[in-house]
Amino acid sequence: MPTITVDGRQVRVEEGRTILQALDDAGLLMDGVDVPHYCWHPGLAVDGSCRLCQVEVEGLGGLQIACNTPVADGMVVHTTSDRVRDARAGVMELLLVNHPLDCPICDQAGECKLQDYAFEYGAAGARTREPRRALQKRVPLGPTIVLDQERCILCRRCVRFCREVTGTGELGIANRGDRSVIETFPGVELDNPYSMNVADICPVGALTTRDFRFKVRVWFLEERPGICTGCARGCNVWLGVAHGEVQRYTARRNDRVNGSWICDAGRLSYREIAAPDRLRTPLVRGEDGVLRSAELDVALDAATRRLRELIDAKGPGMLAALASAHLTNEDLAALRRLLDRLGVDAAGLTLVMGEGDDLLVHPEKGANAAGARAAGFGDPAPILERLRGGGLEGLIVLGHDLLHPTLLGSPDALDDLATLIVLDTHRSELERVADVVIPGRHLAEKGGTLVNAEGVVQEVAAAVEPPFPATAQAEVLDRLAEALAPRLAQAGGDG
Ligand code: SF4
Ligand code: SF4
Ligand code: FES
Repeated sequence: MPTITVDGRQVRVEEGRTILQALDDAGLLMDGVDVPHYCWHPGLAVDGSCRLCQVEVEGLGGLQIACNTPVADGMVVHTTSDRVRDARAGVMELLLVNHPLDCPICDQAGECKLQDYAFEYGAAGARTREPRRALQKRVPLGPTIVLDQERCILCRRCVRFCREVTGTGELGIANRGDRSVIETFPGVELDNPYSMNVADICPVGALTTRDFRFKVRVWFLEERPGICTGCARGCNVWLGVAHGEVQRYTARRNDRVNGSWICDAGRLSYREIAAPDRLRTPLVRGEDGVLRSAELDVALDAATRRLRELIDAKGPGMLAALASAHLTNEDLAALRRLLDRLGVDAAGLTLVMGEGDDLLVHPEKGANAAGARAAGFGDPAPILERLRGGGLEGLIVLGHDLLHPTLLGSPDALDDLATLIVLDTHRSELERVADVVIPGRHLAEKGGTLVNAEGVVQEVAAAVEPPFPATAQAEVLDRLAEALAPRLAQAGGDG
């Protein structure tokens, strides 16, 4: 492997990489070695158009752009010399000549690379007297993205994303020189399943998502790491949290899992966290057949009593459990402990299958399907069969994927169960037939591990607290197991 020296620091690099890629590979780019850049992005082909990444390479006459200069063994690079700083200041001055400088009303303010680099390298005042170019503002590009042409610095990241990543090619640059603007092709909308990534990669406030625009000023956001639960890819996301609520998901780079991208459906799935249909309180069905709100202790007592009665009367063979692919490994382990304690063998995984694609979206709609299978929760078909045929008396269900048309479809087959215990995050038709319903936590509200479709084990921590009392599923299941243990042990001893 060649070795290069950057600002006196030796870096071993891979053959064939550019200086910027080599710094990125070494984890030094903007984290030890600052080489500002606009057009370069780790997930896109080199463009070399913004000229901001110029560095000095000993032995080469002029300054070189780090994004398109291949490394060579023994290369000596300077990124902080006066020449380099002057060049960056020159580029920034040119970029700012026509910029509207409307930071106070720009939604990117606070996370804008033009602001950041202008602060670092920009001139204190403008030398031009000519009016700045007036272009279109608030141009809807499609259902998800709004463009402000005046703020665009023509880095072409958005254009290359649509050509290279999604292959949809909706965007292009129209006109020449200082009349150049980003546009969609005539009659075309920016409308693909990954369209909102262009807002993530736009370094300025030119592209914003309709979803997040003017929702909250970004300096009130705390970005916390998390994982999308939409499918078995398990894409890494940043959860933007303000006022105790998740306000957005943005892509969090992980080259082993999702690169720098997430799909639009996954991006918008943050809305599930504070959705109006979240289960906010435990529910217990009374003797009059009505399901009523209850304290968690009361719901756990009711579930314990019902499970005990069922096992005493019919034995554990008449009870089954269906796990959800949205649960963490820790939740699943707790479910397994409960089932072992009850002596229940019948356990399946309710996994919804849907559309997938060649980029990220996986047909398995659950972030921990692989983890659930590894924990012994497999094909639910035998359990569904017994439910349809009246061959079960009791069921513990986590989540409500069971109601998907490809699984049970409706709760009717559960009508005759003597006992149905539901542990879920959101309300569902299961409430019509459940005896006890206990609210659990969304993945954003608890810690744990997940295994994605490629077998990558990923850990998450709680990013927010639920705005109502909800206990992590693992804890609910452990409390149930604990409450059931003495009586079952005694039953075993008696037997
Ligand atoms: S809209 Fe943003 S990403 Fe696209 S060219 Fe302009 S500055 Fe770059
Ligand atoms: S591909 Fe799957 S995991 Fe990734 S963002 Fe989309 S739904 Fe979420
Ligand atoms: S990042 Fe190198 S020219 Fe733009």
